[in-house]
Amino acid sequence: MLRHAFVSFLLTATGVAAQNSTTSYDYVVVGSGPGGAPLAANLARAGHSVLLLEAGDDQANNPNISQIANFNPAASDETTRWDFWTKHSDDPERELKYEHMVWRQKDGSFYTGLDPPAGAEQLGIWYPRTGTLGGCAMHNGGVCSLPSDDDWNDIAKLTGDKSWKAENMRKHFVKLEKNEYLEPGAPGHGFDGWVSTILAGTDWATEDVDVTTIMKKIVNATGGDPSQLPELAKKDVNAPDPNRDQDTGVNGMAIHATSQGLRSGTNSYLKATLADAAKYPLTIQLESLATKILFSKGTAEPKAIGVEYLKGKSLYSGDPRYKASAKGPVGQVFAKKEVIIAGGAFNSPQILKLSGIGPAAELKKFNIPVVKDLPGVGENLADNYEGYVLGLADKPLTGLSMTSVSVFLKTPTAPKHRNIHAWCGPLSFEGFWPGFPHEYGPTEWECPFVHMNPRSQAGYVHLKSADPRDTPDINLKFFETGEDKDLTEMLDAVKTFRKAFQSVTAPIGPFDELHPCPGKNQDCSDAAIKETLKLQAHSHHATSTCAIGAADDEMAVLDSEFRVRGVKNLRVVDASAFPKVPGAFPVCPTFMISEKASEVILAAAKA
Ligand SMILES: Cc1cc2nc3c(=O)[nH]c(=O)nc-3n(C[C@H](O)[C@H](O)[C@H](O)COP(=O)(O)OP(=O)(O)OC[C@H]3O[C@@H](n4cnc5c(N)ncnc54)[C@H](O)[C@@H]3O)c2cc1C
Ligand SMILES: *[C@@H]1O[C@H](CO)[C@@H](O)[C@H](O)[C@H]1NC(C)=O
Ligand SMILES: *[C@@H]1O[C@H](CO)[C@@H](O)[C@H](O)[C@H]1NC(C)=O
Ligand SMILES: *[C@@H]1O[C@H](CO)[C@@H](O)[C@H](O)[C@H]1NC(C)=O
Repeated sequence: MLRHAFVSFLLTATGVAAQNSTTSYDYVVVGSGPGGAPLAANLARAGHSVLLLEAGDDQANNPNISQIANFNPAASDETTRWDFWTKHSDDPERELKYEHMVWRQKDGSFYTGLDPPAGAEQLGIWYPRTGTLGGCAMHNGGVCSLPSDDDWNDIAKLTGDKSWKAENMRKHFVKLEKNEYLEPGAPGHGFDGWVSTILAGTDWATEDVDVTTIMKKIVNATGGDPSQLPELAKKDVNAPDPNRDQDTGVNGMAIHATSQGLRSGTNSYLKATLADAAKYPLTIQLESLATKILFSKGTAEPKAIGVEYLKGKSLYSGDPRYKASAKGPVGQVFAKKEVIIAGGAFNSPQILKLSGIGPAAELKKFNIPVVKDLPGVGENLADNYEGYVLGLADKPLTGLSMTSVSVFLKTPTAPKHRNIHAWCGPLSFEGFWPGFPHEYGPTEWECPFVHMNPRSQAGYVHLKSADPRDTPDINLKFFETGEDKDLTEMLDAVKTFRKAFQSVTAPIGPFDELHPCPGKNQDCSDAAIKETLKLQAHSHHATSTCAIGAADDEMAVLDSEFRVRGVKNLRVVDASAFPKVPGAFPVCPTFMISEKASEVILAAAKA
């Protein structure tokens, strides 16, 4: 059924290489990630002609990309990788204390660390993204974890649009999910949607192996009954339990993949839509870097009518294969109804700004004519802070396999609901740098965690130039507000996990802790742990750079129906739309808002 996948830049239902035969569609969607792909498929399935523009190509036949277990090599794979060099703060000295700062050496290779060789150029903190059909859902860890109900209800409160309430958002989840781990009909879940979900394996939980012994200590340290481990490891992390947001301890880990271990969601839904006998009017144009939105002339309110793009391979400088000399021919496509931008939290604000939508002063600096002065575009950048406790056991662990569970904490100062989502197992994850992660062998054990509701929204995505091939200037500005509150919550998470590690007895323990307090059963002051957490926090769930907001908030970029304020026929539908980080893991929430956007756009088309 996938025989047309590689025939040309254009993938269509008929498989005809329709190059340049149609340049006008009902909808033009830019970007095929969790925001754009489902939306493009849904609009086409409703009978509208849709062009989906994607900068990258299609790597669905590359096992790094197709098999969820290969997520680590996937993030380093040159065929999909977009490298962004980011900052965590405005303070150059603080930046230099980040253990995984990346430098370009004189011979062109990367150096990662605190002690760069002479003459090396400081690049920044590596933030991986993809430029490929399917977006970051093609290299991510695949964890599907719904946000707290408050995260949705807060959007309803902020905008007055009740359709954002958690109970309604659950309906979108039910529609999109194809659950492969529960009995069909289980409440709050879907069984015939376009995203397969499975549970990380739990066979180990009933075995007498070291990983199970350690996991029982984690259950105990997080307030559970260790004898319940086999049930807890399978516990449904996305259950519609009214008490879910207060529930803590070990849960299963849901993954957006099929029972065969293949990634599911964006790319697979697009392919299924193209392959369908109904011949839906979806056209996918690969290797096309959108450079600006086109507007009609002479209307009082600007009106989006199309998109201009550069055609060719590796035209974005985040692509490691990029060559500055390659420019690519310019193409234009037109939208009879709407243009929808879904380039992700870094690229959507960049595309809007290149098109003249953004803070007027910044646009003027680069001689970009102002179409709409919207000061919030590229501001408000937020991300889940990540920390970890990593140690080496005193002997090689038995029972090694894809062992992972979710562990939720509600630390003593958490304001409303559980605030930490960890995942524990025989793994090493210390943030991102080219070629990550370090492999420590069969003794490694880690509990990495994300802070589910970081308080700072001070990060930004600013243009470095008016060249659409340039990556933007990205500063996450960690801990700019709420520093002590967030660090205290993370400190309490570290203490809980250190306690679990330290309760593991011989012959597995004592652990030789690598982070945050190196040594065996080390004493470590709260202040020292907080300092480490602050300097070494990392992240990979960027959101909120084109935020939905209240009508009277001048920093809001979108209204509650994803419409760009003050511009007709233009929406943004991707992770940049969330006003705040949507809980611990953004990919399933982004699938959900893509479904929601499909609903509002189809309703508008009928009206
Ligand atoms: C290494 C890693 C691991 C992750 N693990 C998880 C996880 O386990 N669970 C989870 O919930 N989340 C995870 N995430 C985050 C999650 O994958 C993202 O939040 C999600 O993919 C965001 O979707 P999006 O549609 O907003 O953007 P993206 O996924 O970034 O998609 C944007 C798409 O637009 C295309 N594009 C951009 N600019 C242009 C342009 N100018 N012209 C044409 N096309 C363009 C890009 O090529 C890309 O395909 C992870 C992220 C990373 C980087
Ligand atoms: C998978 O990615 C790694 C880099 O992480 C690369 O070295 C390898 O060649 C890739 N494999 C395939 C089949 O493309
Ligand atoms: C479980 O935790 C309690 C309280 O922290 C502790 O006293 C007890 O020893 C632990 N039990 C096991 C089996 O580790
Ligand atoms: C289509 O053809 C026209 C005229 O031949 C050309 O100007 C335009 O760039 C082409 N568009 C695409 C999508 O290649």
